[in-house]
Amino acid sequence: GFVVGTAVAGGGHHLEQDYPDPFTYDREYRKVLARQFSSVSAENQMKWDYIHPERDRYDFGQADAIVEFAKRNKQVVRGHTLLWHSQNPAWLEEGDFSRTELRAILREHITTVVGRYAGRIQQWDVANEIFDDQGNLRTQDNIWIRELGPGIVADAFRWAHKADPRAKLFFNDYNVEGLNAKSDAYYTLIQDLLEQGVPVDGFSVQGHLSTRYGFPGDLKDNLDRFDALGLETAVTELDVRMDLPESGEPTEEQQRKQADYYQRTLEACLAVDGCNSFTIWGFTDKYSWVPVFFEGEGFANVMTDEYERKPAFYALRDTL
Ligand code: XIL
Repeated sequence: GFVVGTAVAGGGHHLEQDYPDPFTYDREYRKVLARQFSSVSAENQMKWDYIHPERDRYDFGQADAIVEFAKRNKQVVRGHTLLWHSQNPAWLEEGDFSRTELRAILREHITTVVGRYAGRIQQWDVANEIFDDQGNLRTQDNIWIRELGPGIVADAFRWAHKADPRAKLFFNDYNVEGLNAKSDAYYTLIQDLLEQGVPVDGFSVQGHLSTRYGFPGDLKDNLDRFDALGLETAVTELDVRMDLPESGEPTEEQQRKQADYYQRTLEACLAVDGCNSFTIWGFTDKYSWVPVFFEGEGFANVMTDEYERKPAFYALRDTL
């Protein structure tokens, strides 16, 4: 039952200028995607700006293609994401909607998107990044929480469950690998929601790590406490970026450290009963979001631009 996944590149802000859609145009990419993974996630193709570009129009093209590809290759799919502060279309963020309208818009979106893929998605990231690093709800930049109040999060889970009772419904975030204010906030919120009978099935850590910072050694302890609530846990977006030396080529020492971070993350997940889904955020540096979003950092994935396997690739393979 343990699946190893990757994000499927496409639709990213960092890709549009530089590359045609790799999922469509890169044969080597599709070959590795089909052969090495048992789960796939849409890196962007199921986000609001991509799948719901106008109020009365959905664009399911790329999302459908990923779900079809997964079926052909006997892979499961993680859906990402339904309620988030980022990558929302301008019609939504800048629209002038009443509270009643906004609520109806979210409900219709969740019902439509989750319903379309019902039975085909193993796990949905229903709510993504709803807390800031201090553990405060994003009451300013998250349109849903700002306009509709925190109760909307529970509604999102209820609507998603109704649209696909088989999908496992997750909270997902970054900087929640270890025990800290942010993961504490999730722990408290989820306990509360479970008491109210809200259909929350899982808590997942993205795992955007950097060798600039130490490895979150309490990752397993953190997953354990959510496991003890009866939840599934998952690693959903692992990559391990590093400072790029002037030469552009990372040192052996950097590569060893990266491999170690990948391995320890996988080991932590394997050591927790309900952690059965482990996903890396892309496999080749060629299409990585990292160099565009983190200045001076890169080399975050398990294969180079040329699809050469790094020590991190072998570290994961040998750990499985
Ligand atoms: C990133 C994608 O990788 C980029 O292509 C896109 O331009 C921006 O978003 N947390 C998440 C992911 O939940 O959706 C983000 O993905 C990375 C951080």
